[in-house]
Amino acid sequence: MPVPDLLPVVVLLQSLVLMALCFPSASMCPKGCLCQRADPVHLHGLNVTCTQSRLKEVPPGLPVDTVLLRLDHNQIGSVPDRSFHGLRLLRELNLSYNAVETLSEGAFSGVEATLQVLDLSHNRITSVHKDAFSRLKARVLVDSNPWHCDCALQQALQGMALNHEAAARVLCRSSELRDHQEGRPLLAVDADLCNLARRTTDVAMLVTMFLWFSMLISYVVYYVRHNQEDARRHLEYLKSLPSSKPHDVTTVV
Ligand SMILES: *[C@@H]1O[C@H](CO)[C@@H](O)[C@H](O)[C@H]1NC(C)=O
Repeated sequence: MPVPDLLPVVVLLQSLVLMALCFPSASMCPKGCLCQRADPVHLHGLNVTCTQSRLKEVPPGLPVDTVLLRLDHNQIGSVPDRSFHGLRLLRELNLSYNAVETLSEGAFSGVEATLQVLDLSHNRITSVHKDAFSRLKARVLVDSNPWHCDCALQQALQGMALNHEAAARVLCRSSELRDHQEGRPLLAVDADLCNLARRTTDVAMLVTMFLWFSMLISYVVYYVRHNQEDARRHLEYLKSLPSSKPHDVTTVV
């Protein structure tokens, strides 16, 4: 019968599948990184250390079972959307001492639920999307960055309700405020930077509307005056006519 003959093939296939499932994480450690078992007893989870590897971007092909990812002391300039998507066990991400300048909304999408610590200190971050941190439950460290304090940053920090300590260390290198003082903590700025922007546009709208309206009024006034003069001249002309017309009529009759 052919069934018993198939058994070794099935077993072989099964072991191949198992190998494919178990080993890629161990065999595919990104270049410049060191991958070690986080927990030697339970054999799941990897500590991936890519510290001081002159990386210019987040390395592709990170092991899916990465628990701790150290990318500190590199030259990473940006964190593209979904950079860590698929790292379902990621608990700690250290991006400190890099050259990150801005963070978009989806930078940490996919790891919101598991991430517990996110270190972004000592970068070049000036601005973040207002929802960059909103779904994160992690403790976020954002000190030592040249922050530009604006509406989006205020909104992003409001999203980090549990991160008062981190937010307190956000010092504004520059800001939307006219009386800006460099190095002032964002939390010490009591102005609502979002309303500030809205108020400025409101004033601009009002001024523009006022200008248009006064232009319209002056045009109407000019038009009416001009027409009045025309009408008067026309009337005078008409008045000068009838004195001769009746004569003509009588002569014809
Ligand atoms: C991230 O790495 C830096 C540099 O090695 C270290 O000083 C810092 O404590 C780390 N952050 C966390 C949250 O462990």
